[in-house]
Amino acid sequence: MAERMTTRQLTVRFGNAEAVRRVDMEIPPRSVTAIIGPSGCGKTTFLRALNRMHDFTPVARVEGSVRLGDREIYGNGMNPVELRTRVGMVFQRPNPFPTMSIRQNVTYAPKRHGLARGPELEELVERVLRQAALWDEVKDRLDHSATSLSGGQQQRLCIARALAVEPQVLLMDEPASALDPTATQKIEDLIYDLKQEYTIVIVTHNMQQAGRVSDHTAFFYMGHLIEYGATDDLFTNPRNERTEAYITGRFG
Ligand SMILES: Nc1ncnc2c1ncn2[C@@H]1O[C@H](COP(=O)(O)OP(=O)(O)O)[C@@H](O)[C@H]1O
Ligand SMILES: [Mg+2]
Repeated sequence: MAERMTTRQLTVRFGNAEAVRRVDMEIPPRSVTAIIGPSGCGKTTFLRALNRMHDFTPVARVEGSVRLGDREIYGNGMNPVELRTRVGMVFQRPNPFPTMSIRQNVTYAPKRHGLARGPELEELVERVLRQAALWDEVKDRLDHSATSLSGGQQQRLCIARALAVEPQVLLMDEPASALDPTATQKIEDLIYDLKQEYTIVIVTHNMQQAGRVSDHTAFFYMGHLIEYGATDDLFTNPRNERTEAYITGRFG
């Protein structure tokens, strides 16, 4: 079930350096929100704040509020391990568990969280591999190593792995940037299908990709959210001159 995410005055610092600055953003459910902007503008840092990945970085400090539905994710009652099942992350480089089979990659987390067992696990494997548009390619070799797959298949396996713990939100950090055009197309088609059921946030430095897959686009610059709106509006009629300069390729 998809959930809305809301940030209020979200700031992320690494030591004294502010990487994300007082960002107010509302990310609607059942849609794709793209985050664009030049390298180093804080896209990844913003995304990682949405599922408390900065907890693992000792110098990182997060201030402000991030809500999943109406729950504060930095609040006392929130278990970060559980949060990361609700808000899944797909990284730039496919990172399946290398010593595990295709099947084990999918079943590891649901087993650990007690979400499924026995025959339910078999059903779950098929369901999420179908959702990730990978089932037909791997159904006869589920016990082969995940590393025997191509890069694009590995990335779809990582998406299946994230789906296996019943997330509400999927965060994707340049999920196709390491893939060839055919594999990229498959990921984009998949994102389009998944938005019926999930809240999706995708970081991309590829503006054509943002235009193709997203409903809303946020332009970040030097840690600030400069402009946020419907993707078609932002690309055809940017309100801010820095947005316009960026989307017309005047800086990158
Ligand atoms: N773990 C970290 N420690 C220190 N600085 C970091 C860390 N991660 C990111 N930064 C800094 O935060 C800023 C934003 O980085 P990032 O969010 O990765 O940008 P983007 O994804 O838009 O390219 C950069 O100046 C980067 O050097
Ligand atoms: Mg990045």
